[in-house]
Amino acid sequence: SAVRELTDLEHLEKELAKQLPVKEVHIVRGNADEDESVKSDLGKIAAEAVMSRLKDQMIITVTGGSTVAAVADYLKPKSGVRPLFVPARGGLGTMYEYQASSICVKMAGQMDGEYRLLYVPDAIDWDLHSKVLEEPSVKEVMSKIEQSSLTIHGVGDALTMAKRRNSNAEELKKIQHQQAIGEAFGYYFDENGKTVQRVHSVGMSKERLSNIEHVVTVAGGSSKSKAISAYFKWGKSDVLVIDEALAQKMLSDK
Ligand code: BG6
Repeated sequence: SAVRELTDLEHLEKELAKQLPVKEVHIVRGNADEDESVKSDLGKIAAEAVMSRLKDQMIITVTGGSTVAAVADYLKPKSGVRPLFVPARGGLGTMYEYQASSICVKMAGQMDGEYRLLYVPDAIDWDLHSKVLEEPSVKEVMSKIEQSSLTIHGVGDALTMAKRRNSNAEELKKIQHQQAIGEAFGYYFDENGKTVQRVHSVGMSKERLSNIEHVVTVAGGSSKSKAISAYFKWGKSDVLVIDEALAQKMLSDK
């Protein structure tokens, strides 16, 4: 018959799209926890999702992380379109290649676009925080973040991210005690989607995120299943790009 059979991945995509508050789900084969090359496949599909939503002068915010870094490899120039890339948050103190600012520079290069950077360290004191926000250069970038209509972001397992950020023993204990499950945009949240802790840094807030037109979430590996399920209770996502192992774990955890 002319009716094409759905593949197993397409079934998974449909099932997740039914269960989650998201418009599109894309699933790639494999498990990023075990195979680094799966991140490239995630990057490729996420890049396509971005390319299909591009508009001229679009302001695109991006977070750091190895998964979002893989998206940069697959962005290509599109005639008549010059996007502006801005980090969603101040630096998160991880490896240089995986910092939001380095990823912005690379993405802008790939697309003949432009970038602005936020020169603010992570985890600054709250009193310093308000002073930094008065800096003209920071203000300018903050206003770009306000005007962003597309964001590409990763999600992490809470404890993994806290360790990557060199949190001290006390902070790690707090994260465990508060039962933080996931992390995104510098916010740690529990399985009910409640924010339990927040990295003091400048950049996009959760409130701002809820008004972004296109939120592209990209993550892989079954170890992130609880984090992603919790993310959907915490924040907004329009396009979810994940791997098969993560998708299956999310469905079996239900
Ligand atoms: C970080 C983002 O750099 O990457 C985090 O700021 C995110 O919000 C994390 O959780 C995910 O990292 P990875 O390497 O697992 O894609």
